[in-house]
Amino acid sequence: MKSSIPTRTTVPSLLDRKNSKEKISVLTAYDFTMASLIDSAGIDIILVGDSLGCVIQGKTTTIGVELEEMIYHTKCVSKAIKNALLVADMPFMSYQISPEQAIESAGKLIKAGAAAVKLEGGVHMAKTVSRITEIDIPVMGHIGLTPQSYHRMGGNKVQGKSSGGGAGSREKIIEDAVALEKAGVFCIVIESVPSDLAQEITNLVSVPTIGIGAGAGCDGQVLVGQDMLGMCLDFSPRFLKRYAEIGITVKSAVSDFIKEVKEGVFPAKEHSFSSDPGASNPNPVSHFDKKPIFGNAKSLKH
Ligand code: KIV
Repeated sequence: MKSSIPTRTTVPSLLDRKNSKEKISVLTAYDFTMASLIDSAGIDIILVGDSLGCVIQGKTTTIGVELEEMIYHTKCVSKAIKNALLVADMPFMSYQISPEQAIESAGKLIKAGAAAVKLEGGVHMAKTVSRITEIDIPVMGHIGLTPQSYHRMGGNKVQGKSSGGGAGSREKIIEDAVALEKAGVFCIVIESVPSDLAQEITNLVSVPTIGIGAGAGCDGQVLVGQDMLGMCLDFSPRFLKRYAEIGITVKSAVSDFIKEVKEGVFPAKEHSFSSDPGASNPNPVSHFDKKPIFGNAKSLKH
């Protein structure tokens, strides 16, 4: 159980959490406002995931996401970070060509404000991972369902159900985890595999495992922020738990706004300025003037 006082998450502190069996919480964020809320709630890690291709850009896969786009969103999120560890995803084709290309791309994400990068793949990415970590850029691995391998997998399908050593088999995913650990990752995301396989890997490797659709045995859990907040109304896979229904709240607030504008109810007198010299006319408040930032929601005036 984590204490209620947020402490800054560092790469070495994650290993301590595995050893002390304190679970690690991870959420994605892609913009300043959401990252500020998530960070101030006390999350351990914020991931600028290439899932932004789907959540922000409306693409059907993450394959089309560009490095420049990841850099832009990493810069936005980094402005909000106070305590979380900021990890940025390396998008498809920003690291596969050569370890040199991977180092260059990883360096750009670190300069944008990330403390670590994440890339997909196991055995075949081990050399690249060691080259990046050699220059002190921490790397988070990602195995099991790797969304950038969408076409090879034939869609986003649960991995590790079969045995036999081929791509996506149980043995191959274990080999991937061990290869990443040897290559120096500080943490491994395990996506969409049977719970017993994720548990076996978690027991086998010394670095923390972070599950998504991988059961309760991992050292931590990650979800896409918009998904767990219920903002993607048509997305409800088995592994997802919705902690809020923000999508419904947004739709209802927007409907109320439309109705009040049409009926002339908004803006009311208290939202309008007056030319009467005795009237109180506080200046407009910009986002830069608001304070305290997200510390006390009640004191906020938009
Ligand atoms: O891109 C992403 O958001 C991810 C997480 C779902 C692990 O890779």
